[in-house]
Amino acid sequence: MIHIIGMWRAKKKLLCACIFLLALCIFIWAPKRYSALDISNRMNSVPEVLLDERLWAAKTYEHIHFRVKGEAAGLLAKNVCRCENEEMPVNIPLSKPVFHLASAVQLKRIFSISELEDLQKKRDQEYQKFLKRSQSPLDLLIIAKANSPLEYPVQGLQVRPLKSILIPGLSLQASTRDIYRVNLTASLGIFQLAAEVDEVSFQGDGEMHLSLSSPQTENLNKQLQFVMYTNTLFHPNTADIVHFTTDGYEAYFSIKVQHPTPPKLYHPGTSGEYDISALVTIATKTFLRYSMLRKLIKSIRKYYPTVKIVIADDSNVTEKVEGPNIEQYFMPFEKGWFAGRNLAISQVTTKYFLWVDDDFIFTNETKIEKLVDVLEKTTLDVVGGAVREVTGYSTTYRQKITVEAGGDDGDCLHTRQGFHHIIKGFPNCVVTDGVINFFLARTEKARQVGFDPKLNRVAHLEFFIDGLGILHVGSCDDVVVSHASKIRLPWTKTKEDKLYATYRYPKALGSNKDLQYRLFYFKNRFKCMTGN
Ligand SMILES: *[C@@H]1O[C@H](CO)[C@@H](O)[C@H](O)[C@H]1NC(C)=O
Ligand SMILES: *[C@@H]1O[C@H](CO)[C@@H](O)[C@H](O)[C@H]1NC(C)=O
Ligand SMILES: *[C@@H]1O[C@H](CO)[C@@H](O)[C@H](O)[C@H]1NC(C)=O
Repeated sequence: MIHIIGMWRAKKKLLCACIFLLALCIFIWAPKRYSALDISNRMNSVPEVLLDERLWAAKTYEHIHFRVKGEAAGLLAKNVCRCENEEMPVNIPLSKPVFHLASAVQLKRIFSISELEDLQKKRDQEYQKFLKRSQSPLDLLIIAKANSPLEYPVQGLQVRPLKSILIPGLSLQASTRDIYRVNLTASLGIFQLAAEVDEVSFQGDGEMHLSLSSPQTENLNKQLQFVMYTNTLFHPNTADIVHFTTDGYEAYFSIKVQHPTPPKLYHPGTSGEYDISALVTIATKTFLRYSMLRKLIKSIRKYYPTVKIVIADDSNVTEKVEGPNIEQYFMPFEKGWFAGRNLAISQVTTKYFLWVDDDFIFTNETKIEKLVDVLEKTTLDVVGGAVREVTGYSTTYRQKITVEAGGDDGDCLHTRQGFHHIIKGFPNCVVTDGVINFFLARTEKARQVGFDPKLNRVAHLEFFIDGLGILHVGSCDDVVVSHASKIRLPWTKTKEDKLYATYRYPKALGSNKDLQYRLFYFKNRFKCMTGN
């Protein structure tokens, strides 16, 4: 009898274990419930009323008279930019180059009418998609209404995707009433109460809409200190616009949803204040000019015996350039200027790279340490030096770049020689937007912009135009590299020089300009440009 009971118990245990395992299996294999989130657009979570608000079109105070000041009003962007030639009041011969007057290019002129129609349509389609991808609720204009009894955080709230934060600074400062009520509404996450306060009733704990009410303001405000926000819909790099209301008043504030990007740090090396070999790679691109390249390397080695040199090479008749700390990468023939720059910087493993042309020569004035010092001690991402021509004259090629809003037709690009201001602590250095092709750059930042490989011949400023808003650019005239050649008497030209010239300065330079204008028109969405 005892034996039978024992067996029965054992069976029961076994049965229990089986049921438990079955439940576990069902739990593990049951399809998880995922809610669908529309990620076609970062602005999806924005309340409609905010999109409708028109600040400048507001028809308030219509009866009050005002005078528009042409000068000041002209400074405001009106989406109607134009590109025009700069003229002297009187016509002086050669005034353009002497006074650095700007000339204008209307980019549409290079297209035939039928081609233009098609390009315009496609460009607009792509531009709308770009806006959808890149606009964030954080760009939205939100106006705080007057005298709201609501207190809330205006900016600086951030949550990692699918994580929680306590919302600081929420409170209600209302005049005496029977019941104090507030509501909070989010669209990408939920509210939770981290604690419950006496005499406060709540509805929607754990939901996107939370209502709190209490006969005592102090209790309600205590409760508001315990409101948590949890992001539940994974859409990194956007923001949740929270609607905060009480009877008769409303406010909006934003919670940024974002992974803080992990930094990419580089070891600074061990020797001296600035260990140039650990911090800098010299990058260049060569095409058929091996004798010049060897002279450049020899001059670098005189001052920097161990710094790494990366060479991108798209010659068809190739020569191996060998030596310690030299890496030569061969590319398809005539792959081009920017493709070569891209390849070279893709191989850089140091914090900075120094861009040089293959016909430069290092001298005792080529102090990389000085440029490193500038990037180490400022927020600049790129700092250019100067290039000394055989004539003895040196140039920094500083360019200011601005883009003006131009509406549906595209924007206007303006480039002017010059700079914005001198850098404190570096009297030889200035802040500008574009520099000469001798510059030290933060590797990560330059890669972020990239050199458009479509630009295969004459190209340089395009990198800085693509980098507008990403790169912070400076220029110093006390770090100088020498230009080995440019002005050469025709009878001293080598066969190598002549072959090079046929590629670099092709007879049909027109076709290169054409390509440049096409990219400006479609890729950068410009309609015209001016420059001096
Ligand atoms: C808060 O929300 C509730 C229900 O969602 C609504 O009935 C109430 O009127 C709202 N109160 C305020 C102050 O907006
Ligand atoms: C290299 O290209 C040049 C110019 O196109 C041509 O004259 C030469 O024959 C080519 N050499 C080789 C080995 O392909
Ligand atoms: C650089 O070298 C030249 C001669 O080669 C010399 O005259 C000049 O003083 C040197 N400059 C510095 C900064 O050493």
